[in-house]
Amino acid sequence: MAKARVSVVGAGLMGHGIAQVFAVAGHEVTITDTVAASLNTVKDRIAANLRELGEDQGAVARVRPCTDLAEAVRGADYVVEAVSEDLALKQKLFATIEPNVRRDTILASNTSVIPITSIMEGLAVRERALGTHWWNPPFLVPLVEVIETQWTSPDAVAWIMKLHEAAGKKPAHVKKDVPGFIGNRLQHALWREAISLVEHGICDAETVDAVIKASFGRRLPVLGPLENADLVGTDLTLAIHNIVLPAIDGRPQPSPYLQRLVADGKLGFKSGEGFRKWSAGTQAALRAKVTQHLKLMHDLEKRQYPSMERV
Ligand SMILES: NC(=O)c1ccc[n+]([C@@H]2O[C@H](COP(=O)([O-])OP(=O)(O)OC[C@H]3O[C@@H](n4cnc5c(N)ncnc54)[C@H](O)[C@@H]3O)[C@@H](O)[C@H]2O)c1
Repeated sequence: MAKARVSVVGAGLMGHGIAQVFAVAGHEVTITDTVAASLNTVKDRIAANLRELGEDQGAVARVRPCTDLAEAVRGADYVVEAVSEDLALKQKLFATIEPNVRRDTILASNTSVIPITSIMEGLAVRERALGTHWWNPPFLVPLVEVIETQWTSPDAVAWIMKLHEAAGKKPAHVKKDVPGFIGNRLQHALWREAISLVEHGICDAETVDAVIKASFGRRLPVLGPLENADLVGTDLTLAIHNIVLPAIDGRPQPSPYLQRLVADGKLGFKSGEGFRKWSAGTQAALRAKVTQHLKLMHDLEKRQYPSMERV
């Protein structure tokens, strides 16, 4: 794929990682942020990530921090925003960006949950706008959901899918702008039942996590649920669903158990207790374990771990 000029708006947790991925893929990247401390440290943070991954530092030179938004997006083929999760802020941002880019510059939001339609509805050229939902950390988790709205052109979707694929990501086309896109709908369907099992005294939080990690969680990186359904048979899946689905939590509101935790100030790592108790030591250990695991998966993929690439 030809090299593109990429502009990333927001140099926080996600923005700096997204900039890193495109720079590593050989694209020229500008990045901007309203907070000087965020912008001034962006190259150092990318350099540190690359060092940890054992990757070439050459990409750092392709990242150009800009204090001025108009300058950062001028001449860009592609602008992606990763500013704070605030609809009014994102709308205002694109209203400022649009007069400073070409008519065919593709504009994307990395929002986690805000409908892309509401962010982009004020644009003059809406067919070049879409969502690109990355997962943290962007340089270790492969998925990028590419969300189209009712206005997005097929050409814009195709170009973005190619851009991300060529940068080593696994883009997934989300054909309708629905809340939670695909990944978070699936993830939170699981979390709802996990919380419900604890709420109803079937097991404690530690057991829920242990059951998942020691069973289907082991297979998930190579066996998705629908592959699994075909593997065991759709007839068996139907028979299971006839028995299990009526028993599974289907409430359309957050669990009262979760609401009570929040009301009691049991906010998880932030307060030292959520579903479980967390010391500084156990928090650090869990974070380290997740990063170590993601790096291992990243390395395996780089080495073309056969069962990950063939199917
Ligand atoms: N953190 C995650 O796991 C995750 C995953 C997927 C998507 N997202 C989404 O990505 C976006 C960014 O999340 P994050 O975790 O990187 O947040 P963050 O707080 O780490 O970074 C946001 C950055 O945006 C900057 N910013 C705020 N207003 C700005 C403006 N007007 N112009 C330029 N920069 C501005 C802030 O100074 C900050 O550096 C959010 O929409 C979030 O929902 C986050």
